[in-house]
Amino acid sequence: MADLAQLASPGSDEDRLLRQIDLARLPRHVAVIMDGNGRWARKRRLPRIAGHRAGIASVRELVETCARLDVSVLTVYAFSKENWKRPKAEVDFLMDLLRDYMRKELDELCENNIRVQVVGRLYELPAVVQDVLQRAVTATAANTGLVFNLALSYGGRAEIVDACKELIREGVLPEDLDEEAFARRLYTAGQPDPDLVIRTGGEMRVSNFLLWQIAYAEFVMTDALWPDFRKRDFFQALLEFQRRERRFGGPSPREAAEGSPTLVQG
Ligand code: FPP
Repeated sequence: MADLAQLASPGSDEDRLLRQIDLARLPRHVAVIMDGNGRWARKRRLPRIAGHRAGIASVRELVETCARLDVSVLTVYAFSKENWKRPKAEVDFLMDLLRDYMRKELDELCENNIRVQVVGRLYELPAVVQDVLQRAVTATAANTGLVFNLALSYGGRAEIVDACKELIREGVLPEDLDEEAFARRLYTAGQPDPDLVIRTGGEMRVSNFLLWQIAYAEFVMTDALWPDFRKRDFFQALLEFQRRERRFGGPSPREAAEGSPTLVQG
């Protein structure tokens, strides 16, 4: 049962939005491309790293909100495979930020029954970051609430290549391979596919994020820069999601009921 009491104070903007959300039709898996940290900093004449630091507050608020709403999985794109190309000082800062975030938040994540997972090539991260993350994954492994996926050194194409390598290692025969068997070799094995992908920062790109899993996801792009993304923006994204008609390649429910001929693609 969703724990809503602390999600919005009565009469607030958030409260008004929350009341419009159909809690029975929430996305099971929300995936977020957190973009715009650099621009947020530039607007304030601050170094880019100040934007990343400010983005932590948005991460905390989103994790807490998803946990209270009983969303099953939240995936945040915290560091892509391509992000290694950034200046070393920025990469080092992001790694330190991640390490500090996890050290500080672990107790609270545990208290809130949240399970931490890493999707991506964990082994490519600095040893100390791997260590902190591995400890968080182990410490929260038995938690039964929100699964919080941190996408780190993550690339959608690399994930598909890694799944192929795994299939080859296991000697899976072509006739035994189907979509379900393939999905079981992805980093997100056992998790529902994202229903909703949110991208902040105003760009309209997928950026190599969860390429296999987003086949039928709904996209909500917002101009809000990630450090400005708050509960209110998330509730608006949920409302937008609930306005969409999901067809999964089939007819709309109305067309199906009417039995009318259709040439629907998406
Ligand atoms: C993209 O903004 C953001 C990132 C590459 C890093 C995201 C990291 C955080 C929000 C903080 C750490 C997260 C966790 C989970 C602890 P950008 O720098 O590309 O922004 P720009 O497009 O405005 O330049």
